[in-house]
Parts: sequence; C-alpha cells; structure tokens
Amino acid sequence: MSNKMWGGRFTTAPDTIMEEINASIDFDRHLYREDITASKAHAAMLAKQGIITRQDAAAIAHGLDTILSEIDGGKFRFKRSLEDIHMNVESRLADLIGPAAGRLHTARSRNDQVATDFKLWVRGTLDTLDAALADYQRALAEKALQHAATVMPGFTHLQTAQPVTFGHHLLAYVEMAARDRGRLTDARKRLNEMPLGSAALAGTSFPLDRTMTAKALGFDRPTANSLDAVSDRDFAMEALSAASICAVHLSRFAEEIVIWTSPLTGLVKLSDKFTTGSSIMPQKRNPDAAELVRAKTGRIIGALNGLLIVMKGLPLAYAKDMQEDKEGVMDAMSALSLAIAAMTGMVRDLVPDTEKMQAAAGEGYATATDLADWLVRTLKMPFREAHHVTGRIVARAAKDGVALDALPLAAMQAIEPRITKAVFAVLSVQRSVESRVSYGGTAPKNVRAQANKWLKSLAKKPGKRG
Ligand code: ARG
Repeated sequence: MSNKMWGGRFTTAPDTIMEEINASIDFDRHLYREDITASKAHAAMLAKQGIITRQDAAAIAHGLDTILSEIDGGKFRFKRSLEDIHMNVESRLADLIGPAAGRLHTARSRNDQVATDFKLWVRGTLDTLDAALADYQRALAEKALQHAATVMPGFTHLQTAQPVTFGHHLLAYVEMAARDRGRLTDARKRLNEMPLGSAALAGTSFPLDRTMTAKALGFDRPTANSLDAVSDRDFAMEALSAASICAVHLSRFAEEIVIWTSPLTGLVKLSDKFTTGSSIMPQKRNPDAAELVRAKTGRIIGALNGLLIVMKGLPLAYAKDMQEDKEGVMDAMSALSLAIAAMTGMVRDLVPDTEKMQAAAGEGYATATDLADWLVRTLKMPFREAHHVTGRIVARAAKDGVALDALPLAAMQAIEPRITKAVFAVLSVQRSVESRVSYGGTAPKNVRAQANKWLKSLAKKPGKRG
C-alpha cells in the first residue's frame, strides 16, 4: 500500500530501509503536545477566516484533545510507517473524526509545522533551564553568605596566588550563571516569531490571519519571510550554543569539586548523597556526579557542533537534513538540566573543611602581595621595587623553611632596614582578605553584600513571559 498522505502519485510502499532512515517518530514524538497545540490554533484561525467551517474546526479541536489524552495516557500507537509526529497525529485524527481531518492541513505544510512545533518545544525548554539556573544561583548565594569569611587559597595557574574567601569563589559561579541566563533569555527573544502559515516555502493563497495564530501560541509576531521561516534553525543552534557555554561553566566548577574533594587537597567534603564507593577499595568516596557533569559537557558541545555541520551546506529552503536537528537538541537539553540539578544538589551538600582551607591559604607565601603593598603604602616605595624587595624576603623565608609571618623582623630588616613590626599586621591571611575591599574584591563584607543582593533579586517572582 502506498502512503495515505501522498499516495496519489505513488503506487508501492517504501523499502523498509527507506522507512527506517526516513522515520523520525522515535524522537519527534516528544513534540506531540506542541504539535497538537499548534494544530488547534491553526484550525481556530482557519475557521475564523472562513477557510474551514466552524463545525469542522470544532470536530478537529475535539479530536485533537482526544489524541492528547491518548498520548498522555500511554494509549496512543505511534506508527513508524507514518514517519513523524505530524502524520501520526493527523492519521489518528482521520480515524476519530473522518474526512474533516483532511481540512486541518489547509494552508500549511509539515515544513512550517515542524519549525513551529520545535520552536515551541525549545522555548519551553529555555524557560525550564532558566528556572533551574535560578535555583542553582540561590544555592550558591546561600552557601556564599554562610562562608563569606571562610578563607581559602586563591589560585592562578593552580598555584597558590592570594587568599580569597570561599564565599567569593562561589559567587563567581553566580555571575557566570547570570550571564548564562541572559543568553537563554536572548535566544528566547529572537526565537519568538511564528513560522506557521509559511506553508512549504512560498506562503499560501489562503487569506490567513497569522497574527491571530501567533498570539494564540505566545509568539510575538509571525515570521516575515516564508523561505527563511521553514529553513531557519538558528533558534536551535543558538539555544545549543547558550547551553554549551553554560555547560562549560558547570564543568569548570565540577572540576574544582573533583580537585577539592581529592585527598591531595581535602578542602571540601561531599556526603554519601553525591558520592559513590568503589567495589574493591573500601576507603573510596568518588565524586562521580561532578565527573559526569564534566563529561556531559562533551555531548552538549557535540550537539552544537553536529547541528552547525548539518546546516552549513544547505540551500534554501527546507531539506530533510533538518530532521537531524531534534535528537541532538533534545539529548543536550536533558543532559544540561540534569547537570544543573546535580550541581545545585552538590552545592547544597558540600561542606568545606575550614581549617584545612585556612592552613592552605597561608601556604605558598600567599600574602607576599600584601607585604609588597605595605612597602608601597608605608615606605612610599615604587611597586616594582617593593616587588623585588618582597621577592628577596620570600626567598629568605623559603631558605629558612618558615612562613612569611614567622620570619623574624631582623631577617626582614636585613633586606629592607625601614621595615617595622607593624608589617606583621598585613601578613595574616585573615587581614589579607579583609583588606580586599575594592568593588568586586574578596573582602568578607563585600561578599556578604553581594550574596544578599543576589538572594534578594532571586527571591523576586520572575516576570510573566509570553
Ligand atoms: N519530520 C520532518 C522533520 O522533522 C518534518 C518535515 C518534513 N517535511 C517534508 N517535506 N518532508 O523535519
């Protein structure tokens, strides 16, 4: 039997391999809700414009509602032979309401239909991710407030650099997540134009009210060029690129959790909730969740690369290549939302070893810059000279095997006679972080103010979005 949607020109059924490579129902079935919503809006508009009768539109809407509840209830039989979600739904509609079902596809094509459905799906996902990131930020800001004065070593090149506060470190990730949310919001804004009514590629001769359909589906406006509308996958690429950057941020943090929980540093502990044991080594507590967040970033970036490569050689307008857009996006988005949830959970779960952090913060002459700054401030030394003098003092301390604040005053004065015992006030890690009060700096009072600012803005109800 030839296909009942286009059987007019065909006499035999497709080869089984043709059916297998062509079918997208295994993954685009996830678009069923969007497909039904868009079809209902289309039918209502067709009726309002007098293109189909009100009775037919009512029968279509009723039939579509039945299909929705069948799919929701797991009672729907998806058929490979019907290729995709659009034809599965339409075919079932014909079973349910008869010939009126055939009027639904007036003035549309699967090309504008799939672009519309997928935009609706991506839009919903962007909103879910945004809410998840807000929750992640909340968890970070709460922990940051708790640890506004907890001192830890700050690193550059993974070498001890200067003491910072743990709260400050956590708030760095709140800032990253804020930019990630900004990118999701931008992607959403550009996405929000409706392709439906562009038909196959050229528009249609029927007197549509595309603005009406756009409004019903929460789009800002209909797309302005039918060729562009059916061949645009920017919205998916942009969502994936925002998702990739977000995943990279999560991955960097995950890597830090791996480092911090390693016995080599022992700066942080995760509970049984976010670690696993080893089947052979009884002592082990592995940060698997963090490692998997790090790894999932690979497939998210992979999905972006995959889609960019699918699109790069396609002439206008629609080409079947575009059917390959969905699996990668769906897989990447579910990986990202799992990664965000796992990071949020780990942030709430993790407990820093404050004593170890404090001790580690003092190692590696982390307050050397404070000493140089003291020489500049107190002795009016040019910074370059102060840097040199401090370097000699650090070398002396290293030779004697002591920390900077344990080096006797006389030893310092042997290098710079004008140094007084007042210098010791700046050599402790506590004083070091307290002095970093420049806007954006690590001082506990800055961290408290920033954490409170974030908690306040995150507590506000997000604005209603169209
Ligand atoms: N399953 C298709 C897709 O995902 C729907 C559009 C098919 N259009 C066509 N002319 N064959 O892209």
